[in-house]
Amino acid sequence: SPVNQATAQKATPTLPDAQIVTQVQHYTDRLFSFRVTRPASLRFRSGEFVMIGLMGEPHPETGKVKPLLRAYSIASPSWGEELEFYSIKVPDGPLTSRLQHIKPGDEIILRPKPVGTLVHDALLPGKRLWFFATGTGFAPFASLLREPQTYEDYDEIIITHTCREVGELTYGAQLIEDLKSDELLNEVIGEGFWKKIKYYPTTTREESPKMGRITDLMKSGEVFADLGVEPLNPETDRAMICGNLAFNLELKEMFEGYGLEEGANSKPAHYVVEKAFLD
Ligand code: A2P
Repeated sequence: SPVNQATAQKATPTLPDAQIVTQVQHYTDRLFSFRVTRPASLRFRSGEFVMIGLMGEPHPETGKVKPLLRAYSIASPSWGEELEFYSIKVPDGPLTSRLQHIKPGDEIILRPKPVGTLVHDALLPGKRLWFFATGTGFAPFASLLREPQTYEDYDEIIITHTCREVGELTYGAQLIEDLKSDELLNEVIGEGFWKKIKYYPTTTREESPKMGRITDLMKSGEVFADLGVEPLNPETDRAMICGNLAFNLELKEMFEGYGLEEGANSKPAHYVVEKAFLD
């Protein structure tokens, strides 16, 4: 009957775990960020990730559609009203070739089960906190840089970001600039809290004030000289790494050389690692 049909339609949401896109910003032909509504029941720790995506194409024989999901770091802080994500656009990427076209009002799928190791709980207390990112690996640090605990727990926060091109630094550079006028952080942590931050952006394939891979700049000692800080040491330093696989492995090896041990939620230590998202 018509009545039953109407009921059945209403009981079936357009997408399972649907959230609405509220804002989209494009930075380069390879990078964009977007915001979606936050499920009322979702709690997460700054630095964690969730699975998000879109419905896939219908299966050619069965016609069945399955969600196409990927792990995305939440780039907004735990207290944020909406959820922000920072994404690469891969022309033939199964998800991002389509996700890059989303507009405000569109729906995405968001599985509300946050997890991850780039969290304060996985680190022992320390004096300096280092964030090491390449490309979209900046995302979890965009969350942690807006998290009051970061400034409560540490005297100094050093963020390094290595990208191929200058335009890929925009999202991070803008976010750090915006912290200066962040009302919540200025009120909770104190005026000028942002002076605790040392920002060290580098590029590898386009001319910029500081060129080179952060790993090479650390090996030569240039980073420490530029920032006027001592090299990493397990007594004082804690670190979080988020980049491509080769970058993560190279830094891990360097950290073990400095005497830092890898931590986890179940066993906090000196540093933690997570792979940046690549579609
Ligand atoms: P490079 O241009 O020298 O490869 P991608 O976009 O490929 O993920 O790379 C992002 C940035 O990370 C690039 O600037 C790249 O430098 C740098 N990178 C890639 N692999 C490593 C590594 N093993 N150690 C340090 N930086 C790396």
